[in-house]
This record gives sequence, structure tokens and C-alpha cells, in this order.
Amino acid sequence: MSAEAPPIATIAGVSAFAGQRVTLRGWLYNIRSSGKIAFPQLRDGTGVIQCVGSRTDLGDEAFEAVKRLGQESSVTFTGTVKVEPRAPGGHELLLDGVEVHQVAEGYPITPKEHGPAFLHDHRHLWIRSKRQVAILRIRHLCAQAIRNYFDSRGFVLFDSPIFTPNACEGTTTLFETEYFGQPAYLSQSGQLYQEAGALALGKTYCFGPTFRAEKSGTRRHLTEFWMVEPEVAFATLDDIMDLAEDFLVEVVGHVLTHGREHLLTLERDLSKLENVQKPFVRMSYDEACEKLAALGVPVEPDDDFGAPHETALTQQYERPVMVHRYPTAVKAFYMKEDPANPRRCLGVDVLAPEGYGEVIGGGQREDSHEVLVRKIDEHKLPIEAFSWFLDLRKYGTVPHGGFGLGLERLVTWVCGIHHIRETIPFPRTIDRLVP
Ligand code: 4AD
Ligand code: MG
Repeated sequence: MSAEAPPIATIAGVSAFAGQRVTLRGWLYNIRSSGKIAFPQLRDGTGVIQCVGSRTDLGDEAFEAVKRLGQESSVTFTGTVKVEPRAPGGHELLLDGVEVHQVAEGYPITPKEHGPAFLHDHRHLWIRSKRQVAILRIRHLCAQAIRNYFDSRGFVLFDSPIFTPNACEGTTTLFETEYFGQPAYLSQSGQLYQEAGALALGKTYCFGPTFRAEKSGTRRHLTEFWMVEPEVAFATLDDIMDLAEDFLVEVVGHVLTHGREHLLTLERDLSKLENVQKPFVRMSYDEACEKLAALGVPVEPDDDFGAPHETALTQQYERPVMVHRYPTAVKAFYMKEDPANPRRCLGVDVLAPEGYGEVIGGGQREDSHEVLVRKIDEHKLPIEAFSWFLDLRKYGTVPHGGFGLGLERLVTWVCGIHHIRETIPFPRTIDRLVP
């Protein structure tokens, strides 16, 4: 053993140290051993590496200490990095030094199958497993790409508040709380504040948590989720569709470039993501309804789409589908009515392929003071709470629009997984507030 302390490396970075001694710090993922040789697998959050420890190299005491390590024991390993094409990751660590921080015993998540309820009860530990690490790293890459996209195109980060005095997306999913003696609501969307921001700064976005009291547990709904919401002054519906398309192509491309190994860990079919190229399929709600009727999944006249409609429609195409001009009656109060047909509004939903469905909702905003007052009334919303918002239509109103993308919907689709609850560190749903 050389006297000089070896450099501290990460498992993802060991290839730069082939043939050299390094120190790796982490947790025991798994171990096999016999009388003379042990094969502990070490994980450090960047990857997993197979290590080889022999009684000869380690000495009796350290060798016996390694053999006693339980899953998730915390350790510092020192050894020589060896290129080993047969090992996962292509390298092995030939151990010559071991420091044990803690011997963990009885780690609850074992390699055997566990049910989802058990895993979610142990979410604080489950996030250490390979698959969850891959999903959380892809989430990080998505968030990074989202910020890069807007930051590099002149959008100003403009944070919307979370305590709000009024509803944005209808009153049925509001979380009410008490704010020094008066009611307040957790934000369902930062949009209304982005509209103020766009008229002050031109192009803004917010990216933060939003809350909806979703009273049914579906695989697409969380009660707390992250939404990115750009808003652009002088933008029309077509501008917003162009923006949403360009944005999604870039974000998915970023994950393909920087997260390929994580996608492969999840056994994601990369060709499905490589298909996310311009132009997306664009069709009006009325055209979509015709197609759905022909597919045997009819929509009730002027009704919103449900998950089965989105699934049936998107399964027809390799690329995302943008459905625009939904019935005014099923959409939020702020959507601008189509001048060509007021029963339709200038809103768009972007539906992800492979049956994933809506990932983006947005469109052009109602910019007339008079129409907006009528819409607030029709939606039975308290006009006083919107007086600040109506000011935006009194002082220099212009055409404008934006959209909201749910981060967890995006990550579910990009990862190709079934349920949204694995895409956020600690999911909140109707039946889960813990851990
Ligand atoms: O379509 P939504 O309701 O649109 C808005 O909130 C607009 N104010 C956004 C805007 O124009 N600035 O929600 C936008 C997106 C959906 O497309 C979906 O991706 C996600 O937010 N979303 C949810 N994600 C997880 N769980 C839920 N309960 C969600 N509800 C909406
Ligand atoms: Mg929507």
C-alpha cells in the first residue's frame, strides 16, 4: 500500500482513474463472499461498482469486517481501479483499505419484490434504489433543461406567490387555508401573476410547486406538483403552440443527450423519445372528436376529453399531438374565445404519445375587460378577488398567452413509467402525506 492518500473519486468518474488507487465513499448495495474473497457492490449516488476484496490484500480483520457488512452499511473503500468489461459499468475496485462508518442491519428494502404501499411507506429509503435514482436524475435533467430553455431566450424568472386570494383553475380543487383570520388558497397555477409579469417585463416564467385537491387517486394526478409557466406579451395561440413545440423538443433532446444511461436503466425505448421532433401533429378539438368517433371512442358533444380519449388519440401518432380550440364551456375563465366561434376557445393541450396524454395546457388569454368580467361572472367567481387582475385589461391590455407544463407528467412520459408518484421525491396524493 502506498503512503500517499489517494484521490477521492465518484463511481461515475472512476474511468478517469483506471490503473490508479482511489477512495470511494458510499453504501453497501449488495455482497457475495466466500472464505477468501468478497465481492461487495458499492453505491454512492452516482452509480454502483463491483469491488473485490481478498483476505490476502485486506488482512484478516478488514476482510472479516467487510463480510459482516449488511445492505446500506456506510463505508469508505480504497483500492485500485481495474478495467473489467464484464463488470457492470466496465470497472472494478480491487480493495486494499476499508473504513466502516456504520454497520447497518435489517435494511427493510431487500432485493425481493415489495408492494407499492410498502415501498411508498419507505420512500425515504426507496429513493436509494437504482431505478429511483435513475428517475430522480432524469427529473433533475428535465428541470435543468426547462430553466436553460427559458433563461437562454430572454424570459425573466418571475416567481408567483403560493398563498393566493382567488382560484385560477376552478374552485373544486382548491386547498383552503387560514391566513391571519381570512381565507387563502394554495396556488393551483402561477398564471394570473405571470400575466402581470409579462406586461411588466415582456416574457416571464415561474417554476415552482402548485397544489390541487384532486379527490381521486389516478396515475396522472398529484395534489402537490411542480409546474413551469411561461407567459409572453403580444403572443397569439399560434405563437404559444410554436413555443410549446420548440420547448418540448429541446427538453426531451437534453435528457436523451445527458441522461441516456438513466433511460437505459429504466429500459426506456429511446426511439420513442427520438421521435419527439418538429412538427407535432396539430388539430382542432372538432377534428379530434371526428377521429375519436371513428376510433370508437366518441366524445359527448362539447365535452372535455378524458384519459381514454387522450390515450386513443395519441396512440395514433409517433409524435406529440396538439389539440386546440376546445369548447369554451369546459375550459378556465381566462381562455380567449375564438372570434370565429365563441363556443370554442383559443386554448391548446399538448398530449404526449404512447398514451401518456396531457403534459401541457395553455393558450391565448382573454384580453378584453368586458368579456373577462362576464366570464368571471359566468364561472361564479368572486369578482372582488380579481380586481387586480382586471386592472391588467384596463391599463395597456394586449394579446398575450402562455402555458403550463407539469414537471411530473413530463418525467413520467420521458421515463416511460406507469405512475406519476415515482417522479417526485416525496409524492403527495389524496391518500398520502407521509413520509
Ligand atoms: O392544464 P392546466 O390546469 O393549466 C393551467 O394550470 C394553466 N393555468 C397553465 C398556464 O397556462 N400557465 O395545468 C397545466 C399542466 C397540465 O397540463 C399537467 O401537465 C399539469 O399541469 N397538471 C398536473 N400534474 C400533476 N398532477 C395534477 N393534479 C395536475 N394538474 C395539472
Ligand atoms: Mg389542462
